[in-house]
Amino acid sequence: MTKTQNKKHQKSHMGIVIVGHVDHGKSSLIGRLLYDTGSLPAGKKEELEAICEKRGQNFEWSFLLDAFQAERDQAITIDTTQIFFSTTARNYVIIDAPGHREFLKNMISGAAQADAGILVVDATEGVREQTRRHAYMLHLLGLQQIAVVINKMDKVNYDAKVFEAVKAETIEYLKSIGLNTSYIVPISAREGDMLSSRGDNMPWYEGKSLCDVFDAFAYKSAPTDLPLRFPVQDVYRFDEERVLVGRIETGTLHKGDTIFFSPTNEKATITAIKNWPSDESLMKASAGQSIGITLDDRIFVERGHVGSSVKNPPMLSNIFKANIFWLSNKPLKVGNSYTIRYGTIESKVTVQSIDTLIDTQDLKTDNNAQSVERNCVAEITLRARDSLPIDPHSTNPQLGRVVLYEGYDVAGGGLISMEGYPDQRSSAKPKSENIYKVTHSVTPNMRAERFGHYGAVFWFTGLSGSGKSTLAVAVEKQIFENNLNAYVLDGDNVRYGLNSDLGFSPEDRAENIRRIGEVAALQANSGVVVLSAFISPYQADREKARAALPNAFHEIYIKADLATCEGRDPKGLYKKARGGDIKQFTGIDSPYEAPDNPDLIVDTQLNDIETCVAQIVDYIKANVIMDKKQNASDGRIVSIK
Ligand code: ADX
Repeated sequence: MTKTQNKKHQKSHMGIVIVGHVDHGKSSLIGRLLYDTGSLPAGKKEELEAICEKRGQNFEWSFLLDAFQAERDQAITIDTTQIFFSTTARNYVIIDAPGHREFLKNMISGAAQADAGILVVDATEGVREQTRRHAYMLHLLGLQQIAVVINKMDKVNYDAKVFEAVKAETIEYLKSIGLNTSYIVPISAREGDMLSSRGDNMPWYEGKSLCDVFDAFAYKSAPTDLPLRFPVQDVYRFDEERVLVGRIETGTLHKGDTIFFSPTNEKATITAIKNWPSDESLMKASAGQSIGITLDDRIFVERGHVGSSVKNPPMLSNIFKANIFWLSNKPLKVGNSYTIRYGTIESKVTVQSIDTLIDTQDLKTDNNAQSVERNCVAEITLRARDSLPIDPHSTNPQLGRVVLYEGYDVAGGGLISMEGYPDQRSSAKPKSENIYKVTHSVTPNMRAERFGHYGAVFWFTGLSGSGKSTLAVAVEKQIFENNLNAYVLDGDNVRYGLNSDLGFSPEDRAENIRRIGEVAALQANSGVVVLSAFISPYQADREKARAALPNAFHEIYIKADLATCEGRDPKGLYKKARGGDIKQFTGIDSPYEAPDNPDLIVDTQLNDIETCVAQIVDYIKANVIMDKKQNASDGRIVSIK
């Protein structure tokens, strides 16, 4: 750690969590640490030793912790227990809780913020079930600094070979879950070896003692280094003045900065920063500070909106992934709804899918799991009703975590990922201000009377190989022969021209669909029956395409499951994707969100092509052909077969 870092944090306590399999010696370790570092009231140990002797019981170091907690429990009302101790270098707080469950809940909800984690492993037993589960928890909590202590070395005669074997086994597991550990310390909590002092029993060990390891840990990187996130908690009005109050979660803001709000895309200049509630004026405020700001413009801002810089806003999305640890007795299932609290936002989310269930013991994965039971880990996809400002954990470790609540109870939580999903932010406003809409003098009805039918968009969505293009082309031919002016817009074709600059990243797919949505709407306005055949994997993008032509947009789900499409594999692309030759292939390593409520479902798995074509043709005719009675006034006969 640098000198300045040390100075900055001189007075604060470094947060440590200690986890491990039951009976591997966590409590003894804490008891011994408190004693060795002189953190207990004088005479406490002797008092307990006397009690033990009276009862004919052996003294255990864990009794010190129990006694310590019993005293504290009367005074504390929250679930988290904080146990303070100091080395000569600095102050520490061990974050613990009366019970395992409460502890995990506190860790997940962020009530307990730790800088580093210690995993305790018994030298006589090695890595056990909870060792693996707890190590995985440390990983899901995003802890970057982990040390392992191999305890009970006294019971294995301080044998270096035993230490090496347990060390190798532990490292192997930690590596497999992506956790790096810089320190593995052999200790005996009972005898006090390698904690505060090195003791005489392990001359073969040249690394740091546990207290030296603590002192070598760095504080978690300061959230001030991350991009600005100012979630608005409330808006106060005083006469003419409007003050937005909240806590800066990450980053820094200055008086005079332009602040940009999500999800509204509104911006204004900060005219004052107030140190709430003392009303002192500041030039600058940073992560951790609760402040009020005033703006130069009366833009719409309310609780839940998030302020950022213009250049580095959060992502906006109504769908995201989470790598979660499940704590509730009631299993998590697809379709279940939960409340998430995220910044100052409270939102309902629904579990869209359980993508992978991970067995923390052997790290085997199950991609067809239907539920996530208590104490299990899974990758899931969550959908919210509205677009939320979201930071994935990979770019903002401070905010990229989600907690799922059942009522007021923490049910589970973990890290947010946006992998496979694009930022849904799109400015509703055009880039230029100097543009004015022209009103057409030819109306849709005039066109419909001329052509005999209205223009409309029939939006085919489905996996690659589901039959979108085949059906669209067949339908186009049939309705064209029936005198409807029809035109197919096809994914592969459009990617040769208009969208030749786009690939298959989430952002490129979103842009692909945005452009096609606009083109399809223009064509439909000109009177054409547009048949668009695009995978269009994201629901949000299809909704945007609908918004371009709200009254004449029909979503048609071309339904066939992945196994069927892969079995057909008309272009041999699934094979390539499975072989790793194509990346981000829909259904394989890129998501497909089936429509929730399509206007028409065409099942190509159950029905042959002719049946499907007939179904679509009937649907189109019913929706675009002008009612002849409507036209009777001008006597024109619409020649539709
Ligand atoms: S979309 O996802 O952006 O809507 P679009 O429908 O335009 O996709 O293009 C899909 C077609 O591109 C597929 O039918 C396939 O032929 C081809 N393709 C090439 N690479 C990919 C990929 N990674 N994922 C899906 N389709 C791909």
